[in-house]
Order: sequence, then structure tokens, then C-alpha cells
Amino acid sequence: MMSPETIKEKVQTIIQLPALPTIAMEIVDLVDNPKTSASKLGKLISTDQALTAKVLKIANSPFYGFPRKISTIDFAIIVLGYDALKEIVISISLVSSLQKKGDAMFDAKGFWDHAIMSGVLARRLARDLGYRVSGEVFVGGLLHDMGVSVLHRYFKSEHKRIMEIVRETDLTALEAEESVLGVTHAEVGGWLAERWNLPSHLVEAISMHHTPGRAENNKELVALIHCADVFAGRMAAQTVEFDKGIDFDQEALNRLQLTDAAALQDYMENYRELVKGDLEAVTQFEQTREA
Ligand SMILES: [Fe+2]
Ligand SMILES: [Fe+2]
Repeated sequence: MMSPETIKEKVQTIIQLPALPTIAMEIVDLVDNPKTSASKLGKLISTDQALTAKVLKIANSPFYGFPRKISTIDFAIIVLGYDALKEIVISISLVSSLQKKGDAMFDAKGFWDHAIMSGVLARRLARDLGYRVSGEVFVGGLLHDMGVSVLHRYFKSEHKRIMEIVRETDLTALEAEESVLGVTHAEVGGWLAERWNLPSHLVEAISMHHTPGRAENNKELVALIHCADVFAGRMAAQTVEFDKGIDFDQEALNRLQLTDAAALQDYMENYRELVKGDLEAVTQFEQTREA
């Protein structure tokens, strides 16, 4: 078994392995340039179908509450805001760069559904609880499980064993990871986030999303992302094997003053109700696209 130190070293060399997709590099360049217009960014995004679909899915999420269907990137920029869109696009591109196209062993759709759901939910929850909402809440939700992509791509045989344990035993995903690797996808994601020089609050949110009580600097942010993750995992029609068996952390609930079980249940029902419409809309959208 590899030691956690060896795993950390391996994870932190990953940055040199997959080159960021050209589109991601172009977007980073464009975004760095203050002269870039929204329409220029929109045009570039539109050249990447998978990226476009994800951005539209986010913009159309009922958690944003926009009453009309958003079917173009230009329109999505208006709804999401230029700055938010920049962050979203860079985050999606980073994680996409870890994933291989056409990998039958990896449920990319399930992964992205969960990531997007966690992002929009984290933002919504923050809002509902009266926190000042900033892009980091959404981005943290979107990126929180990126360690799963790392495990799948760079620790293939270990990941396969972890998935077998998850399917065949009562162990939770975290317990399975601990037993095979000695670390979890949360720590692994955090190491990569560090290596990628993501802001420290995101590093903390990613590495502690399953242990929010251990957060030191951004306790609210970590608690929000933790709770959004658990909510997202419980939304019907989502099977998130890599988060199997996770539950609300009491310290996170305390931190957000969500200790009343009935109130927590109310939030859950509300979000589920919202998502029900979303799932139908998404299915319809995908059907019209395929047609
Ligand atoms: Fe996770
Ligand atoms: Fe998750």
C-alpha cells in the first residue's frame, strides 16, 4: 500500500501531466485580459459543446430562479453575470482536464450532475441562510469532489477496488478509500487544489468537505459546502457512489444554526420540490437536443 505521503507526492505532480485543454487556456487568457467582452467569451465557450451544455444547465437551474429557458451562452452570461461565469468556466475546465473523454468506467454524467447540483445548492443555501453570497460558494460546490476524478484517472486499480467495496459491502465510500489508500478523495482533491494554486479557502473547502469540523479559517464556507453536498446526494434520481453513506456533520449544522431537525427537513423538501421541475426540464432539454 502506498503511504499517504507517496500519494500526496503523486497527486502534486499531476499538474505537469495533463495539459489544460486548449479551450481552458484560451479562456484563462481571455479572462485575464480586461478588454475581453462578454460576447467574445461567449463565442469561445460556444465552440465547446460539453462546456456549453454545463453552463446552460447551471443557468437553467431552478435555484437561480430565472423564469425563462436560457438556451444561448449570451443569455447565460446575462443571467449568471460575467464574473461568475468566468469562475464557473475556469472551474469546469480544470476538472474536465482531469477526465478522459469516452471513459466507460467513469460515470462522467453522474459526476457532473452532482457537481453542478452541489454548486447551485450551496449558493442557494447560503442565500437562504442569509450569508453574503459570493462566487466561492458556488465554485467550492462545483469543485468539492474533484479528488474523485484524480483517483479514477491516476489511481485506477485502487479506485476500482474502492468502487467494488462500495458496491459490495456496507462500508461508506470514505471508509473504503481509507481502507485501500489510507486517505480520502477529499484530501486528494485538496492536495491538487493546493498544487494548482487555487485560493486557500477553496483548498480548505475541498479537503474538508467531509470533515467540516476540522476547518480552521473558513468554517462557514466549509459548512455550507458540506451541507450542500449532503443535500445534493439525497436528491432523488442521483446516485453518487463516491459519496455513499455520508451524513450531515453535527458541527457544520451547529455552525449554520441548522440544528432544528424539522427545519432541516423543510429545506430538504423545498429543494427537492425545486429540483423535481429541474430534472423534468433537463430531460426535456436533452431530448430536444438529441432530436
Ligand atoms: Fe465527497
Ligand atoms: Fe460530493
